Amino acid sequence: MRIAFFCPHSDPLAATGEPDAGGQCIYEARVAEQLARLGHEVRVFTRRWGGKAVRQDICDGATVFRYPMGPEGFLRKEDMGPHLAEFVERTLIRQATWLRHASAIHGHYWDGGATALMASLALGKPLLFTSHSLGILKRDRITDPTPDGSRFRYDLRIRAEKKILNAADAVIALSRTEREALTERYGANAGKIRIVPGGVDTGAFHLRLDKTELQRELGFTTDHLLFTVGRLDPRKGFLELIEAVPIVVETLRSAGKTVTFLIPIGPEQPSPDELAYRHALLRRADELRITEDIRWFHRLSDEELFQYYEAADLFLCPSPYEPFGLVLVEAFASGTPVVATPHGGPADIVEPGVDGYLADPRDPAAFAARILDALLAPETQRRRMRAAAAEKARSRYAWPSVAAAIADAYRAVQP
Ligand code: F6P
Repeated sequence: MRIAFFCPHSDPLAATGEPDAGGQCIYEARVAEQLARLGHEVRVFTRRWGGKAVRQDICDGATVFRYPMGPEGFLRKEDMGPHLAEFVERTLIRQATWLRHASAIHGHYWDGGATALMASLALGKPLLFTSHSLGILKRDRITDPTPDGSRFRYDLRIRAEKKILNAADAVIALSRTEREALTERYGANAGKIRIVPGGVDTGAFHLRLDKTELQRELGFTTDHLLFTVGRLDPRKGFLELIEAVPIVVETLRSAGKTVTFLIPIGPEQPSPDELAYRHALLRRADELRITEDIRWFHRLSDEELFQYYEAADLFLCPSPYEPFGLVLVEAFASGTPVVATPHGGPADIVEPGVDGYLADPRDPAAFAARILDALLAPETQRRRMRAAAAEKARSRYAWPSVAAAIADAYRAVQP
């Protein structure tokens, strides 16, 4: 089959640290790659900016094409609405011949869904949609701080999501929570929704069940090492995590133990929003007198990222809302259990007490308590949790099976 991905804001080959580079980019790149391995041809259409090449291969059979839209330079995804039709027009003109023989048009996130919808109408092709994150669920947890709602433009986004869901021939939900929101909050037809989770490259992440030796090699001398990673965005909950740190530090101290938290402070050249968030993190850590217990880091190389996942006793996901939680399955692939938000995909991924715990990051005492449960459990139990996490990554979240399930969805909508 020939499959077209539409994802204007999310370039699958964006480098970590670029604005808007995140789990969605990894997802698109890995799924496109695996579909190509299964013998399909994938073309991914995204916005061109920052002097990137028009055409770039992900692998043999999967290629990214970049077309400009709107103003020069970075454009926030929330501000893309007025330019989406221009993007579709350019793509349809430049890819006319290839698209004529496409089997399915797959939109990612609402900007991708809106452009894919326009393209599918123009071409008469089946439409598939993966939201990656839903406006209604984000709005439940994260208030737009601007008086005119221009930061997140929830109204526009939710209206667009409803139209796309209504028109789509098939919808891929990343978790049960998402399927529930799609049917109950958006009124989507349950019959066209399939749950296919995100995945992990189990070969790339380094699996290690005994962590201490690597911690020492990396220069960490405390008894425990806790890791979290993500874009410097309030949506990732690092500020909430900071509130739980003193509780963990104090409780461990009274048990004669020490701990280091590895927490990101964004790229070396931060955007104004990232800089404001960084300052808020550093200020709050200073007020709470926990600066000594935290090792802040900027952007990590792939190797450093793999090592931190591998060395950590526990991975933390304190997002107020996490649509899926690719980071959790990456931690699992490294043999690292997690303490994660219960809001969104993590509720599907984590089996409490088996491979991690769920706790509301907005309740620092509860979040800290679950971290302590994991760290203070007997070593045999901690080891069992690491092994269970690793086994789940391998058996449930390998990209080839994710891509095979998505290919089934394409097949099912063929006329
Ligand atoms: O913009 C980066 C990104 O991670 C996307 O790749 C992803 O789908 C999206 O954020 C989620 O965005 P939101 O916070 O708007 O729901």
